[in-house]
This record gives sequence, C-alpha cells and structure tokens, in this order.
Amino acid sequence: MSIDYTGKNLILESSNLEAGKVKWQSPSNIALVKYWGKFGNQLPRNPSISFTLTESYTETEIEYSEKIEKGNRIELEYLFNGQENEAFTARVKKYFHELLPIFPFLQQLSFKINSRNTFPHSAGIASSASAMSALALGLCSLEDRFFGSLAADDDYERKASYVARLGSGSACRSIFAQAAMWGRLESVPASSDEYAIPMKDGLHELFQDYRDSILMVSRSVKSVSSSAGHQLMDTHPYASVRYAEARKNCNSLLSVLRNGDLERFVEIVETEAFQLHALMMMSSPSYVLMEPGTLAIIGLIRQFRHDTGIPIAFTLDAGPNIHLLYPAKYLTEVELFIEEELLTHCEQRGIIKDKVGAGPLEI
Ligand code: PMV
Repeated sequence: MSIDYTGKNLILESSNLEAGKVKWQSPSNIALVKYWGKFGNQLPRNPSISFTLTESYTETEIEYSEKIEKGNRIELEYLFNGQENEAFTARVKKYFHELLPIFPFLQQLSFKINSRNTFPHSAGIASSASAMSALALGLCSLEDRFFGSLAADDDYERKASYVARLGSGSACRSIFAQAAMWGRLESVPASSDEYAIPMKDGLHELFQDYRDSILMVSRSVKSVSSSAGHQLMDTHPYASVRYAEARKNCNSLLSVLRNGDLERFVEIVETEAFQLHALMMMSSPSYVLMEPGTLAIIGLIRQFRHDTGIPIAFTLDAGPNIHLLYPAKYLTEVELFIEEELLTHCEQRGIIKDKVGAGPLEI
C-alpha cells in the first residue's frame, strides 16, 4: 500500500504563534535481518527485521518560534551534546528542506534543536536510527499540536516511521516497541517499503526481554559510512543473491520470533551478520569494518555456546562492535563470561548493557 503524505493544508495561519517545544526519547535498534542496498527515495532493496533497544537512545528537544523572514529557507540551530555541530546542522537543514512537501509549516518556524545520545555516534551502533526517529516523532508532535491531524496512535506511528525513513532508512524501525519489520515481503500483507510495522503481537515471550550486550571493540568513527555502503550495492556482483537470501531469512525469522526456536535464531542472526560484512569485503572497492577484536570475540562466543549449550548469538551492525544477544534467564552466566573473557578485547573494556525495549517516549 503506497501512502500520500503531501501536506498541502499544513500551513500555519496565526501570525502570533506562541513559542513552544516538544521532546522525545527514541531508541536505536539492532537489525537481525539486515537492510543493505536501497533505491529511489530511501526505499529498501530487501525487507529487514530488528529488535528495538532500551538503553541506547537519543533525546531530542525541538524548540520553535515564529520565523520572521518569509521564504522557504530552513532556520535552525542544532546542538549535539550541548555543543553546536555544523555537520549535524547541515544534515538536519537538508532533511527539513526535503520534508517541506510533507510539513510545509517547517518554513514558517525558527528552530533550536537540542540532542544528546547515550552512546557514541558513528561507531556501528545505529545512532542515525535513534536520532532520526526522535526528530521524526518530534515533527509529528508539532503537526499534531498545530493541526490535530494525527489523533490515532496508528496514524501517528506510521507517519513518524515514514518520515524517519526519509532521514535514515533503519530509523523507521525504531518507532515501534520490541521488534519491527520494514520492507515489502509477499507473505506479510501489511508490510511496506515506505514504513515499518510493529511485530509486538505474537512475539514469543522469550524475545520480549531479550538481552543485547554491546561490546565496544572500537569507539572510533567508522571508515566507510553506511550511505557509501548502500551505494556500493548498486553495482555489487552478489546483490540479487543477497536480496533473495534476505527475503528467505525474513520469512524464517518471522516463524522463529513466534515459536521461540533459539537454535534457528542463532543460525539466522549470525548468517545475516556475516553476509553483511562479506558484502563489504566483496564490494568494489572492498573494505573491512571488523577489527581483530571482533573476530576474537566471535570465536569465544561460538566456543562458549558449544561448551555450555547456552544459545548466545552475535550480530554486527556496519561497524566492528559485537551485539551479543541472549535470553534474559542466562544473564548471570553470560555476564560472567563477558567479564572474564570478552571485555579484554573491547576498547577500555567498553560495554553497553542493553535489551529489547518499550520503544520511544514523549517527555
Ligand atoms: O539506516 P542506514 O542507512 O544507516 O543503514 C543501516 C544499515 C545497517 O545498520 C547495517 C543494517 C540495518 O538494517 O540496520
């Protein structure tokens, strides 16, 4: 189903609008089946499925007042962690400009945006997912405040997901609690390339409080951005095979998320992580985002699983850091294993203890 969010009527009439603010906290997410490759206006080449996280989030406050100058220039100041950030200001200005057909009122306001992350950005934890979903939710709040046009929760979430996608593809999945799927998959009639859909109903209880210990092998900004990586898929010799594999893995994972088959979960999730990084290594030009510590940890995880029978699994985002996924009931054993064997491979023994979460929150 294609959606038309052209917002011709969303124009403010009042000439003495009261200044105000909205604030959202929105989490990052970790893809289990990866989105890698896009077309058109941020549309995915294959469907993807993710867990929504809890502790890794962005908090964004949008202060607005009436803009004095007329015209469609976007007037905004963007502070990241309390400091002016030129790169982010430029990116958000461009984003707001692109959103003018959806939210024409953005050209009538002057903005001061204050944003902070609970985790380092550009280190292979989807910081753009939390940042862009927090912004998109804020913009939908503005629309609702000024025009009252997003009364139903479903409308609100769908539009926020659509708008977040235009900022960063994976951000559209962060709108939903626990788990979300984005991208058209024939077996799921409600699925869409334009927005994500929630997977809360039917998610096996094992996954509802699943743990994700993020092992910070490196905190450095990654050497090749995700947008460059997506672009390399346009001419990738294995692209069509990959897109077919992702569809197959989505279908299998959907069953697993309902039936709680952890053995299959481990297989699918680890295969997906390796496929993503194999694609990078086989791109032209090729590149590697894994670090020696990444491979050392993967080896130890597999050994631990073999020795204990505890179904821990790793996945990777577009970076060297490991997301270690496991059921909450094994917390004690796994935390001990991390402490004793894995942290030594992490930069300054860095770890974020995260878990599947309740989704964004208006503050
Ligand atoms: O949303 P983007 O453009 O930053 O791409 C994210 C891609 C991966 O994080 C590697 C996979 C995914 O589905 O989140």
